[in-house]
Amino acid sequence: MKPTFIPQFDIEPKILFESIYTKYSYDFRHYALASMKRALVHAMDLMGCPSLTALQEKVLQDPKCFYDLLQSLTIPVSEMFRDPTYFLALREKVFPHLKTYPSLKIWVAGCSTGEEVYSLAILLQEEDLLERTTLYATDINQRRLEKAEKGVLSLNVIQQFTHNYQKAGGKRSLSDYYTVDTGSVTFNSDLKKNITFTDHSLVTDAVFSETHLISCRNVLIYFDRELQDRVFGLFHESLCGQGFLGLGLHETIQFSQYAKYFDPFAKKDRIFQMREQW
Ligand SMILES: C[S@@+](CC[C@H](N)C(=O)[O-])C[C@H]1O[C@@H](n2cnc3c(N)ncnc32)[C@H](O)[C@@H]1O
Repeated sequence: MKPTFIPQFDIEPKILFESIYTKYSYDFRHYALASMKRALVHAMDLMGCPSLTALQEKVLQDPKCFYDLLQSLTIPVSEMFRDPTYFLALREKVFPHLKTYPSLKIWVAGCSTGEEVYSLAILLQEEDLLERTTLYATDINQRRLEKAEKGVLSLNVIQQFTHNYQKAGGKRSLSDYYTVDTGSVTFNSDLKKNITFTDHSLVTDAVFSETHLISCRNVLIYFDRELQDRVFGLFHESLCGQGFLGLGLHETIQFSQYAKYFDPFAKKDRIFQMREQW
């Protein structure tokens, strides 16, 4: 029988997340409850647990079960050139500013399996910026980071990604950037050479570098308002004066206490620029 919602389902996830934090130091206590509930029901189903208490017992006793649960709690969905107009706006509006710097640092926070960071690397190469750029691609999910670092994608998603690439103003053919093996594609190594893939939590870790652009897309939607504010604080600390922040199409800094430090730059595409004086 599939697990279903139960009345006390607001309290039980909280208890589970407290114990996960105590045992594993992963902090889901301020993630948005609605999406966490869906993820937990999915995990209970996958892991054959009839109740959340049974799931809790399993993950606390066995670290492997915790890492399996982590796959459900951290939503992986990604695409290359996702929301193509965002990448077009980076290319046409943001990069002309970035070109004025002799060297650049870009942080892709919550990079999942790498689609976003490889899209950026391609864009930077086409605009002659890749050589002078260090890209940091971070996530809390180690398994996904390893996949991202390999730079291998399934062949059956490439058609959609090619379509996105063209809409993002792609100047060549996407196939120039990868080689095809059986059923998969591998990105060329020159795209990877300036990317550092690192485990970093937006919830528990600190800023690690000054950056010129932060792209953090489709991550903050899973956080509650309080946690979003912490993350905007990190971004404010990390960005240099007049640095850029790109968010997902359903995310905004508008309601955060840090909104006053940013101006909308490409409003429709959720790109913000930090004010100089801060
Ligand atoms: C839906 S994916 C977004 C991928 C990509 N940014 C995009 O827009 O296509 C969300 C990613 O955020 C990561 N994530 C969740 N919580 C995080 C945290 N506290 N710190 C860093 N990354 C986190 C997840 O592991 C997942 O890979």
